[in-house]
Amino acid sequence: MSLLVRDGLLVSQDGLVRADLLLEEGKISRLEDRIAVRGSVDVLEVSGKLVLPGAVDPHVHMGFRFLGEGSCDDFPMGSRAALAGGTTTLLDFALPELGQGLQHAVSSRVDEGLRGTHADFGVHCIVREISDSVLAEIPTLVAAGVTSFKVFTAYDEQHLRLDAGELVPLFEVVGRAGGMITVHAEEPSIVNRCTGQFVAKEDVRPGNHPAARPAIAESAMVALVIEIAGATNCPVYFHHISTARAVSLIGAAKAAGQPVYAETCPHYLLLDAGLYKQENAVDYTVSPPLRQRVDQERLWEGIRDGDIDTVGTDHCPFHREQKRKTAEDFTRVPNGLSGVEMRLRLLYSAGVCEGRISTKHWLDVCCKNPAYLFGLSPSKGEISPGADADLVVFDPEPCVRVESKRQHSACDWDPYEGLEVQGAVTGTVRGGEVVWWEGAFRSAVPGRYRPRGPSGGSGA
Ligand code: URP
Ligand code: ZN
Repeated sequence: MSLLVRDGLLVSQDGLVRADLLLEEGKISRLEDRIAVRGSVDVLEVSGKLVLPGAVDPHVHMGFRFLGEGSCDDFPMGSRAALAGGTTTLLDFALPELGQGLQHAVSSRVDEGLRGTHADFGVHCIVREISDSVLAEIPTLVAAGVTSFKVFTAYDEQHLRLDAGELVPLFEVVGRAGGMITVHAEEPSIVNRCTGQFVAKEDVRPGNHPAARPAIAESAMVALVIEIAGATNCPVYFHHISTARAVSLIGAAKAAGQPVYAETCPHYLLLDAGLYKQENAVDYTVSPPLRQRVDQERLWEGIRDGDIDTVGTDHCPFHREQKRKTAEDFTRVPNGLSGVEMRLRLLYSAGVCEGRISTKHWLDVCCKNPAYLFGLSPSKGEISPGADADLVVFDPEPCVRVESKRQHSACDWDPYEGLEVQGAVTGTVRGGEVVWWEGAFRSAVPGRYRPRGPSGGSGA
């Protein structure tokens, strides 16, 4: 079936461009000022609305296990929330069991995704142990479309952490194979010492979570990882950057020509550490923690000057009851927040409408750059003939208060509850099908697994 998207304001690198789009067989086949069609073509009138490429979220955790709890959105629920928010492609993670091979973990995670996702998805592969056999798997995985490998430098208690001596050979192998390393950057001895001080004093109230994971833990690890990546010729991408100092270190590495990339998240841009003084502080347990206003300003500036490449959500929500079960001890609270449904709207409202960023930056960090950096371009992240027919129809006008009960995540609360947000996702098109329109899901076409090319290369 063909679909004509009539009279949209396409968000492009050069501002807004009024045009028609013809979608055929899951692809964009034509982009012209005015397309005249004959025969049986459905028409979607979108006059006055913005049209973006389907957004790509480079960082989600569907059904992630943390301190004995599973994050409450699985692939079916989380991907529906994503579509309602204009995100058509998700990058989740394959996490090997201890002792398990990487390929095995990737295959199981892809199968899990295929059993229920409504969005397209790819996986980064987490590496939590280094051995000759693990390193030997990497070139084959890269060739098969798993081109990014995530390391945690914190979370000892979850057996996720690699140390610097383990990062070096991994970075060498990934760099040689043409892949990219992605990093959760927190210096563990700082985190462990600061956390240990609260534990020793038996003062583990949730309000102490940010002091247990201070800004210097992030910046110290960012500096070390930049050094390792430079010495091993490996491109590196930092997840969920939260501090001003880390942005400056990343900016300096970029200016020196190193392939270093950074993501921040809506919660670091919009929420701050003041929330840890509230009675419901425990709900905002996320790592890295929320920071100061000065960090927020630097993160916005980072988007403007290109030091921040993407805004991912780190979508990893837990019900209030899951968060509050262990509320008397922040070291036992599952970490994570939701964001997948709100990302595009929050960045438009707090970013574009409030004059912090342009529509081009909005397009870049939510759509184009995540696709480009993770080897999904030119199929994803752009509107051009030959690209996947994944689109967002965005109404810039309405001003709506966030209410978790109107959202599509399984989670029973939302970090932005009550916030007035300008702009709404009128419609989402994935693979040429209208999957979400004016507040209702239309067709339930299963999402596909998307093997990826090298960073900046051509995705399948
Ligand atoms: O608190 C967080 N960020 N939870 C999800 C896991 C991670 O660290 O990305
Ligand atoms: Zn992380």
